[in-house]
Amino acid sequence: MIYDHLLRPLIFSLWNDPEDAHEFVMANLERVTRSKLLLGALAAVATVKDPRLEREAFGLKFPNPVGLAGGFDKNARAIRGFEALGFGFIEIGTVTWHPQPGNPRQRVFRYAKDEAIINRFGFNNDGAQKIAERLAADTAPRKAPLGVSLGKSKVTPLEDAVDDYLSSLRVLYPYGDYFAVNVSSPNTPGLRELQDKKALDDLLAALDDEGRVLQKKHPGGTVAPKTVVGSKGGRKPILVKIAPDLEPQALDELLEVCTRRNVDGLIATNTTLSRDGLNTLTEEAGGLSGRPLFPRSLAIIRHIRRQLPDMPIVGVGGIMSADDAWQMLEAGANLLQVYTGMIYEGRPN
Ligand code: FNR
Repeated sequence: MIYDHLLRPLIFSLWNDPEDAHEFVMANLERVTRSKLLLGALAAVATVKDPRLEREAFGLKFPNPVGLAGGFDKNARAIRGFEALGFGFIEIGTVTWHPQPGNPRQRVFRYAKDEAIINRFGFNNDGAQKIAERLAADTAPRKAPLGVSLGKSKVTPLEDAVDDYLSSLRVLYPYGDYFAVNVSSPNTPGLRELQDKKALDDLLAALDDEGRVLQKKHPGGTVAPKTVVGSKGGRKPILVKIAPDLEPQALDELLEVCTRRNVDGLIATNTTLSRDGLNTLTEEAGGLSGRPLFPRSLAIIRHIRRQLPDMPIVGVGGIMSADDAWQMLEAGANLLQVYTGMIYEGRPN
């Protein structure tokens, strides 16, 4: 009620560029994150605790199945704030090895009537080292697992992508509970080519090997030690985040590579290049999220579940209501994430 009638109209009308609204929300949540008192107050009103909501997937325990999707807290500024808001897990990033400013502004656009967003941020972030330092400064036990989304720096040529991801994994490994390999953002030129069979195989083989080496170096965990090593054992869970725009054959090839390379789970899906279901006419380039994406992400999840009955799936893309969330679970998702739904509806669960 408060969000629908007061906060959202205010946030939507105060700034012309939605990025300013985002920064306002992040800066305030960061303030909350620094105060035990405010965190406690927020948790008291926003967190729902119920053993029936608890989940287990890829060796981790989740207080509930609704997580914060990648891209909202790109620089790990307000993890505690999102915990207090009641999220069952939080995915920070996408983080790249090199710090980078992203694309020129304006780079995010709201289509309120469609409950949709187009963004072309292009992985603006502080870089893996700085973000690792930020994570190292907060050693208190977490209430919800932390995912770290890894992407390729823009300055790194595609043929050197593996080293770029590995460098980030090395510095961030001690702090994440799982790692999401983002090969599906439409806003870094060439990135989606890493979903191709050979490129993906090379990347996942290298991350699988390096994960095992890093696990021996950093056996301690950030959550309960028992929950640290992924379902495949030997290292923390590695998930792959996929695009909703893959053709059926390319998707099946990707599933085959992921299975062969011990991937612990799939995050389906990222934003789409399609404009299907968007009623507003727009020429803006970038990835579309929100309500129009839902049928597509749902179809992809159904397909994955049919092909791989045991693969953990994080369902994301156009969840705008509890009913959508339920449908996605029924389609085969084990866990869920939201981004655009939170902007229009203002709550994680
Ligand atoms: C995103 N998304 C995203 N995903 C990711 O893995 N890394 C990122 O950095 C970002 N950045 C980002 C910025 C903005 C403004 C939006 C709207 C989205 C994609 C996001 O995590 C999610 O996969 C899609 O938005 C689909 O879910 P929703 O938004 O329809 O719930």
